[in-house]
Amino acid sequence: MDLSKLEKIKFLGNGFHGYVYLVKYRKKEYALKVSYINPEDLNNYNVNLDNEQNLNKRIIKKYPNQFTKLIKYSILEDCNEKSGDTNMRIFSIYKKCLFRLYSIVNDTWQNIEPLINKYNLNRKYSMFLQLFNIYSILEKNNYVHGDLLDKNIGIKYTTDEYIKIHNNEIPTYGIYIQLIDYDMLLSKEKTKYIKYNTKRIRDKNNIIFLMIENNNYINNYIYDSLNNIEKKEFYSKLREEKQYINLKTLTKNNIELNEWLVYLLYPNIYRKLLNDDKLENAKYLLPIKDILNIVKKFNDTEKIIEYLINKLK
Ligand SMILES: Nc1ncnc2c1ncn2[C@@H]1O[C@H](COP(=O)(O)OP(=O)(O)O)[C@@H](O)[C@H]1O
Ligand SMILES: [Mg+2]
Repeated sequence: MDLSKLEKIKFLGNGFHGYVYLVKYRKKEYALKVSYINPEDLNNYNVNLDNEQNLNKRIIKKYPNQFTKLIKYSILEDCNEKSGDTNMRIFSIYKKCLFRLYSIVNDTWQNIEPLINKYNLNRKYSMFLQLFNIYSILEKNNYVHGDLLDKNIGIKYTTDEYIKIHNNEIPTYGIYIQLIDYDMLLSKEKTKYIKYNTKRIRDKNNIIFLMIENNNYINNYIYDSLNNIEKKEFYSKLREEKQYINLKTLTKNNIELNEWLVYLLYPNIYRKLLNDDKLENAKYLLPIKDILNIVKKFNDTEKIIEYLINKLK
């Protein structure tokens, strides 16, 4: 089946790798992702697609409500499509495109973020619980999503009242969390341990970072905007602050989480260190006590899940 022939009904979104459209296939709605294949990187692309297909066979089949599912794919040799932030510029000279058909979600976490704070607390617990549960499913099966950001977290509205997590009937409050975008997916067996583990921790950090509103500024800052020299300076200044010691024991070896906690707990110090007096205080989506309890359980995803299950009892 040549997926490039499907009529694009609506543009749904794009990111680094692809442009995504609403399409109809056998009278049902799906998301069609179009991306370019760099022939010089064919090996990488094959590994990625392979990973994704394995994930489908081994895991997604069992958890259809937790992941968007790859239905089929096709390749077009002479392609003239729009595709992705960078690929569009770099890879489109290669003319070879990959079309992937996925089950569809209604929205993304990023799009509904301004609404989430207005949800009642139990609904938010359910959303974070579902997210950690998905993370745990991947972790237990030796996969890392690799790009667990708000724009890759799908929101699917449902009439199902409950979702089963650890043998508990957890209320959905009308929302299924479903992951999208497997282009950065890593499997433990095919990845160097250090890279795998770094990404695994980063994904978990990213879930925790969602617990405050408008986390984009701070995420960008934490991951990208400072070069190493500036970071060193930041940390030497931070060490002069007494509170840092307490935090360090809480988040040993997790610099990013540590920084995030400084912002959350000591915004004045953070503003000073960043030289940004306009930076607003964090607005939490969950009570600060819960956030800290979850951070304390950082290394044990199952304990985080138990904690959130108890909140909903
Ligand atoms: N299955 C889907 N259903 C609805 N929208 C989707 C789906 N997949 C992707 N999108 C939308 O398209 C955007 C880009 O898709 P994504 O797979 O994340 O591409 P990229 O690898 O370029 O980031 C997403 O952030 C989302 O807004
Ligand atoms: Mg994406």
